[in-house]
This record gives sequence, C-alpha cells and structure tokens, in this order.
Amino acid sequence: MGERPAGVAVVTGASAGIGAATARALAAAGFRCVLGARRLDPVQRLAAEVGGGATARPLDVTDPASVAEFVRGLEAVQVLVNNAGGARGLDPVAAGDDEQWRWMWEVNVLGLVRMTRALLPALEASGRGHIINVGSVAGVEVYEGGGGYTSAKHAVRAITQTLRLELVGRPVRVSEVAPGMVRTDFSANRFDGDAARAERVYAGVERPLTAEDIAECIAWVATRPPHVNIDHLLVRPLAQAAAHRVHRTP
Ligand SMILES: NC(=O)c1ccc[n+]([C@@H]2O[C@H](COP(=O)([O-])OP(=O)(O)OC[C@H]3O[C@@H](n4cnc5c(N)ncnc54)[C@H](OP(=O)(O)O)[C@@H]3O)[C@@H](O)[C@H]2O)c1
Repeated sequence: MGERPAGVAVVTGASAGIGAATARALAAAGFRCVLGARRLDPVQRLAAEVGGGATARPLDVTDPASVAEFVRGLEAVQVLVNNAGGARGLDPVAAGDDEQWRWMWEVNVLGLVRMTRALLPALEASGRGHIINVGSVAGVEVYEGGGGYTSAKHAVRAITQTLRLELVGRPVRVSEVAPGMVRTDFSANRFDGDAARAERVYAGVERPLTAEDIAECIAWVATRPPHVNIDHLLVRPLAQAAAHRVHRTP
C-alpha cells in the first residue's frame, strides 16, 4: 500500500470486464472511485456495490462534451485508469473497414488522450497523480488481421512514453498495464456479438487471464510508494507465448 491515504480514482469503461474488476480492486485498496461508461446502469450498480463513496457518471470517451461533463467538479484526482477500449474486426489491412478502424482509434487512442488532457490539472492538484493506461500485448506485437487494433495499442504505448517524458518533474506517474488474452466481452464485441466466433478465441486455452488478474496488477501499480513508477507491465496467461502463439488442448 501507499504511504498516505488513497484519494479519488477514475476508471473509464467500468461497466464490464477489466474496468469493473479494477473498480472493485481500487475500492478495496481504499480509493474513492468515480466510474464511467456509456452504459450507466451497470456502473451505478457497481458504484453501490463497491461503496467507499464511489459514484457513477455517464461517459463516452469519444465525445468531447461527454468528457467535459464527466470531469466537471473533479478537483483532485489521484489515479486515472484509461481502460475504455477494445477491438473491432479481424480483417487484413487490405480489406480493412474505415468505420472499424475509426472506432478503434477514437476509443483506444483519442479517448485516452481526451481523458488525460481533461484530468491532468486534477491529477497534478492531488500532489500524487497517476495515469494508468490499459494497453495490450497488441501494443508490442502485431498479428495478421489485427492492424487496426495493434496500431491503436502501439499508439497507446507511444503516448504513455511521451507523457512520461513531458511530465517529468511534476507529481504525476505514468504507467501502462498491457494484458495478453483476458476472458471478457472483448471478443464478442470484436466480432459484433458473434458468440460462436468469440468462443473460438478461447477454445482449448486452459486458463485465459481473468479481468480480476489484470485488476490486481493495476491496483498493485497504483499502490506502489509515490516515488516508484512502474513503466510497463506486460501480463499474459501461461498458455500464451505471443499474441498469436497460444497453446490449445484438443
Ligand atoms: N480482453 C482482452 O483480451 C484484452 C487484452 C488486452 C487489452 N485489453 C484492453 O482492456 C480494456 C478493457 O477491455 P475488456 O477486455 O474489459 O473488454 P470489454 O468487456 O468489452 O469492456 C470494454 C469497456 O470499455 C467501455 N467502452 C467502450 N467504448 C467506450 C466509450 N466510447 N466510452 C466509454 N467507455 C467505453 C465499455 O463500456 P460501455 O460499452 O458501457 O461504454 C466497457 O466497459 C480495453 O482497453 C482493451 O483493449 C483487453
């Protein structure tokens, strides 16, 4: 745990998966969570569940007006977890769909930048701010059909490193937690709700990571003493040696 009582933690994309699990983990670590996503109902239920003064607000990170409304009144924020994101499609670059690429870049990249800009004054005002970006193995590796997503997550990695340079000397840590295969709604969303296709992603994989595995890592990163900056934490399941090299049992 840190050396001082925990303050406010903002989690984007807290309605499901890694974001929801992160809210639980950060609340358990003593943070007062401010949770956002487009689907407000699950975020409201989660805020009530985790307690500790947690609140829920609607948030679409692709909409500047929504971001401005979300951050209104947040004056001192200790942790910002930029988690909202995901993938769309698995087409080769040559057959890529502009709308899918635009969605991936809007949410994973511009959404993260927008949230960071909007909360930087509050992070700095806390005296011990921390930006934790949820990247991916797709930010360090590529695979066929993943061009839109891997390029967006490579951008997340580049932006994280740039921010660390630009903020040096100021009281804001900058970290990236980069998961490998995590079993969430990620694949169903990637394939537009095609559950059978999503299921094939995890077929025969003994134990994909869970959202809780990653949430635990994010909470650990957030609770190091304030002089300790975890730059990049890449976490895979045992069965995954690379984004595209996964051990499957028949
Ligand atoms: N699962 C994996 O294998 C894996 C691996 C590496 C990295 N990641 C990354 O982990 C993060 C979380 O993914 P997940 O696995 O938890 O997937 P998920 O279950 O699909 O959750 C995605 C979350 O992002 C939110 N979101 C999507 N668009 C948004 C928007 N415009 N504004 C605000 N929130 C938005 C969704 O909430 P609403 O729909 O309610 O807005 C949801 O809460 C993503 O950045 C993803 O790229 C996942």
